[in-house]
Amino acid sequence: DKQAKPSVRKGNGGEWHQEAKSTKERMTTNQGVVVSDDQNSLKVGGRGSTLLEDFHLREKITHFDHERIPERVVHARGYGAHGYFQAYESHASLTKAAFLQNPSEKTPVFVRFSTVAGSKGSPDTARDVRGFAVKFYTQEGNYDLVGNNMPVFFIQDAIKFPDLIHAVKPAPDRDFPQAQSAHDSFWDFVSLMPESMHMLVWVMSDRAIPRSLRMMEGFGIHTFRMINADGESTLVKFHWRPKQGIFSLIWDEAVVISGADPDFHRRDMWNSIEAGDYPEWELSVQVFTEEEANKFDYDVLDPTKLIPEEDVPLTPLGKMVLDRNVDNFFAETEQVAFCPANIVPGIDFSNDPLLQGRLFSYLDTQLTRLGGPNFQQIPVNQPKCPMQNLQRDGHMQMDIPKGRVSNEPSSLDDGLPRECDKTGFKSYPEKVSGEKLRIRPESFADHYTQARLFYKSMTGYEQDHIAGGFAFELGKCQKIEVRERMIAHLLNIDKELAGKVADNLGMNTNVEPIKPAVPVKDMPLSDALS
Ligand code: HEM
Repeated sequence: DKQAKPSVRKGNGGEWHQEAKSTKERMTTNQGVVVSDDQNSLKVGGRGSTLLEDFHLREKITHFDHERIPERVVHARGYGAHGYFQAYESHASLTKAAFLQNPSEKTPVFVRFSTVAGSKGSPDTARDVRGFAVKFYTQEGNYDLVGNNMPVFFIQDAIKFPDLIHAVKPAPDRDFPQAQSAHDSFWDFVSLMPESMHMLVWVMSDRAIPRSLRMMEGFGIHTFRMINADGESTLVKFHWRPKQGIFSLIWDEAVVISGADPDFHRRDMWNSIEAGDYPEWELSVQVFTEEEANKFDYDVLDPTKLIPEEDVPLTPLGKMVLDRNVDNFFAETEQVAFCPANIVPGIDFSNDPLLQGRLFSYLDTQLTRLGGPNFQQIPVNQPKCPMQNLQRDGHMQMDIPKGRVSNEPSSLDDGLPRECDKTGFKSYPEKVSGEKLRIRPESFADHYTQARLFYKSMTGYEQDHIAGGFAFELGKCQKIEVRERMIAHLLNIDKELAGKVADNLGMNTNVEPIKPAVPVKDMPLSDALS
């Protein structure tokens, strides 16, 4: 009580000032000099002027002035936690990745969930895709599985990502938050991008307003490759399934919660971990060969397509438990740097053109966001296995490497780190050949079949929610041509859906049709759904 209570005492100049009594730790400047008075700046006499020589005042305010770093260009609002991953058994036949071999080993993880479009201060329950990014601190280096809570994406090629994000973010002239300005630019953009249709049905569904971050799925989206110790490769898609079940809000709840408690999801996550009610997910993969992939009606390199579980069932790999909240939001959740290019031996990329662009983008943006090339040294980003190479210097270098040589080959220093052919990462020697072209393959051309499949796999009330989502969002869109174009797309997905949306908007479905590039098919629904 004595410690917490501020006392009032007379200052040197006869002024009154506050002093919080503390018997323990001494406050110092960043240079370690003990601070005698943190209540008053240094002045001439009692009433000033204030002296430029007051190094404590200047240091304190300078540091404060630089407290903010740029928010992420996308996924700015996020929430993180620590935990572990544990494989159920050895998956040696599939991959040589060390963290998938030993069921008694727990691999530490850091996970950040996020919304995509909103700024750092936007509400948690906005209708949006959720990021689901996992950093596995494996014995062989950091492996990042940077996914979302939906199994497909808006675009097929990374070159369209800046356009997609510009369309969804506040307009450059008025900077309204996404709820107003983006309706025209976003719906105009996607209505001109038929490849977005499948994702749009997901985004208008209840999946875009999860009840809790603990109650949503995660997906790696792209096809990846796994390689075993014999060098044999299979293709995989990653899935996270929450043990808590999958639950969503309904739109009216989401809107009320956005106003009443914009921190709804982060509070829920923090509270459940603090209470020892640790959220858990199962990691599975769909495993398939290139020969099987060639027989599918869709291209497994197209990130706007999923692989129905009727075609390839899930193989469970292990579980992830989140059991520790961060000590410091900024140091950990804000400074964590995920990157799809962070990969370990036994896992490899595919040629999905969206993934290939992502492999460049994350490190590039983090060089700006985290102030230079040494952000790997921030504790949350450091690997938890030995890490050494000959890179040196740069902004915010924290290490003091010993020795006079930072090049190889070199005969001057026997202790230099060297490459290791046996345990080092080797890219899968996939055969590639072809002409250099800027084209979209024809196998990417079917934009409606899977959108229809997803819509049809929903229950009646979920279908109503999807129609309601489209009608609400398009109702905010001022350009009638854009609404009509969207209704034309919806007609290709499902006539009843298009009718419901048109009705709701006070329009009809007599709009100029959009001819699908390839005929839309009816894919079989699973027995449970049909
Ligand atoms: C951030 C997922 C596509 C560029 C993120 C984050 C996630 C994510 C989860 C947040 C990471 C965190 O919590 O810090 C995805 C998924 C995609 C996708 C699943 C498609 C399947 C793309 C593409 C690009 C891109 C195509 C660029 C070509 C970025 C950038 C960030 C980001 C620049 C910010 C990274 C940072 O500042 O640390 N993405 N993304 N993303 N993504 Fe993506």
